[in-house]
This record gives sequence, C-alpha cells and structure tokens, in this order.
Amino acid sequence: MIQKPGAAVPEWKGAGNLSRVAKPSAIHEITYKEESRWVSPDSEFNRVLGGGIVPGSLVLIGGEPGIGKSTLMLQLALQLKDRKILYVSGEESEHQIKMRAERLSNQNAPKEKNGVFILTETSTQNIFKQIEILEPGLVVIDSIQTLHSAHIESTPGSVSQVRECTAELMRFAKETSTPVFLIGHITKDGSIAGPKILEHMVDTVLQFEGDRHHVYRILRAVKNRFGSASELGIYEMQGAGLREVSNPSEILLSQRDEELTGITISAMLEGVRPMLIETQALVSPSAYGTPQRSATGFDTRRMNMLLAVLEKRCGFRLSAKDVFLNIAGGLRVEDPAVDLGIIVAIISSHEDIAVSSKTCFAAEVGLSGEVRAVNRIEHRIAEAEKLGFERIYISKYNKKGLDLSKYLIKIETASKIEDVFTSLFG
Ligand code: TYD
Ligand code: MG
Repeated sequence: MIQKPGAAVPEWKGAGNLSRVAKPSAIHEITYKEESRWVSPDSEFNRVLGGGIVPGSLVLIGGEPGIGKSTLMLQLALQLKDRKILYVSGEESEHQIKMRAERLSNQNAPKEKNGVFILTETSTQNIFKQIEILEPGLVVIDSIQTLHSAHIESTPGSVSQVRECTAELMRFAKETSTPVFLIGHITKDGSIAGPKILEHMVDTVLQFEGDRHHVYRILRAVKNRFGSASELGIYEMQGAGLREVSNPSEILLSQRDEELTGITISAMLEGVRPMLIETQALVSPSAYGTPQRSATGFDTRRMNMLLAVLEKRCGFRLSAKDVFLNIAGGLRVEDPAVDLGIIVAIISSHEDIAVSSKTCFAAEVGLSGEVRAVNRIEHRIAEAEKLGFERIYISKYNKKGLDLSKYLIKIETASKIEDVFTSLFG
C-alpha cells in the first residue's frame, strides 16, 4: 500500500512492527500453510471465492444500485453461524435492515437467534471503536462509498476518502485476520466508483450483475488472490431472498413440448461453467423501409455480422427482413460459441422449419462462413449429454484429440455453415 508523505496515519493501532527489515528469502525455503477457509452454507458464494472465506481477506462486492448486494451480504451474514458478524450500514436504518432480515429469514429460519449485529455508522474511527468492543469474526461494510475517515477532509465517496477508508479496513483485516466485505456501487460505465483504485487494493473483487427486470443474478470473480478469477455463482432473486442455482441449464431452458421454429440451444461457457442456453430468433418481412435489427442479451454488431455472412456466403435474402434475437433468462452472452446456434435459429425462423429440442450447438462462425473451434469442448459436450441432449454440432477442428467413443450423445462436425444447414434442413 503506498502511503504518500504527509498522508494520514491509519487508525488501526497495532500497525505492525515498522522497524522490521525484510530480507530476501530463497523461494524454495519459503514455507506456508494452506489458509484454512471458512466454508459458508452458500455453496455458490464459496465457489466464487475459491472454496470459502479466507481469514483476513478484503473482498469488494461491486454492482449497480438495486441489483441485490445488500440482500446477498445480509443473507450470508444470517446464514453464518458460530461467529459474531458486524454489518455496518451507512445507507439504511436499523429498522430497514431488520425488515429485510425478516423477509429473508421468514421461510428458512424463523426468528432464530443469530450473531448478526447491525451498526449504522459512517465514521471509520467510530466503527473501529465498536469493533474493539464487539470483536466480530466478520465485518460487512455497506457501502464503502458512505464511509469517511477523520484523517481526510474530503467528502464521503470521493477518491481520497474511499482510498483512505479502504486502507484502514485493509490494515484491520490483515492485523486481526478478520475477513472484511466491502460493498461498492458501480457506475453505469462499469467502474467501481472511486475509479479502479479499489480493485488493486483489495484481495478479491466480486461483481454482482444481472438484469434488474429478470430474476437471475451472477456473482463473478473479477480478481481473486486466493482462487480462480473465472468462477461464478448464479442466484435467483425471489420474494424471500436469493436462491442458489446449482444447475443453471435447467432454468435457462424453457420447458416446451412442441417444436417451435426460430429456437435453438447452445452449449456456452460462463467463466468456466458450462451451461445450455436458449436463443430465440424471429425473422419477418419488414413492414417499413429500413428493416429492424434488435438483439437482447447479445451484441447487435455481432448479430449484424452473422446476418451478413448468411446473406453473402449462403445467399439468404435477409436484408429486407426484420430480425429480432433474444437470449432467454435475461443473460448477456459473450461466448462466441453461441454463433452457430444463433445463425441456425435465424435460418430456422426464416425457413419456418423447427430444429429438434434435443439438438444443441457449440461453435464460432467466421466471416467466410467457416465453423470454428471453441475452447473446452469436452465440457460443453459433457454438459449437453448430462442434460439429455441427443445431438451436438461442433466444428470439425474441435474433433482433434476428442475421444468420440466416450460420449453417448451424437457428435456432428462441420467445417462450413452450409454443412450444418444441409444436415438440419436438407
Ligand atoms: P438490494 O439488496 O437493496 O440492492 P443493492 O444493495 O444492490 O442496492 O436489493 C434490491 C432489490 O431486491 C429490491 O428491488 C427488492 C429486491 N428484493 C427481492 O426481490 N427479494 C428479497 O428478498 C429482497 C430482500 C429484495
Ligand atoms: Mg444496498
């Protein structure tokens, strides 16, 4: 942590032995013991952290206002037993938090006694005073932008305040081995307010995201000193809090008996987790001069590129058509492996021929209409097989090194999108 000359002295008192001089150690002589993690009852949360809460870690939970950060943290606090937890709120009153806690615990643990303490305070000096008295085993700060330290003159939420308060909490976490969770609001452009400064100060950055109008929320590790940064947890926002979703594919696939046109399933990856998602396309003659193109949950520019490929390479006349695309469940998909599923959905709607609901796709599509390989193909195939799919289309170039006899699911390979269309639509 860089301390500017003349900068405020951090409040946390046992500030370590400053006269200690560090000496270089040979790397093979350095020993360490595996941190014993605190495994919470929320398995999605543990997964994102890399296996549980690390003692003394400082974790930032970022997300847009209203997405459910306070709910997530309060719910976690209520679930953790055996230790005192201090929930510091600078945003809501005790009464509001109590009401939320009741809403959360109504179904699971009615009126059970627990070790959660609420403190409505924004001065770090006062917070540390209370911490000394209470000696909590975990501290939640809701939110870092509301705190202020007496050592800095600027207003709460300003860069220097956010930095100073985080530094004080960091010191506290490290000196006492107490895990500290900081909630931080992120601005529309995606940066956690008090720019990127926080991200490099803390051990772990988790992003809580989702579409507020949909029920699914994704908790994503953006940075993690104690685990992989490609993990993610999935929740469903319900009336009584967040429910863990351990099998995301099941909720992302709509239940349907009849075969409908314009619908396909793609085996995609979110971080390292394979999941199957549904894409819906609607292609219809344009009623007005300029055709409409709109995509929800998918990059519109990429959709336009795929449409251009279909037009130019396969001769489909789509330029006078409206094209609408929708990814089910309110997810935003960035994995290029959904390309093939998307173009098949478009052609299925255009030609009015349904694709079997037992068929899925996992391949990228290139500018010349080639079907390209994607990463972790085994995981995608295994997930599709697990969910009862009977056929998966992948790139021919993904076949190398793949033991096809291992799978029950039929694996179709293609090098050009025409091959896929011929196979599906004749
Ligand atoms: P909140 O945790 O206050 O969001 P943040 O702290 O990120 O600003 O959650 C806000 C939304 O969550 C609010 O619109 C109501 C909804 N909600 C539920 O749907 N179910 C619940 O059990 C709770 C507590 C909140
Ligand atoms: Mg909140």
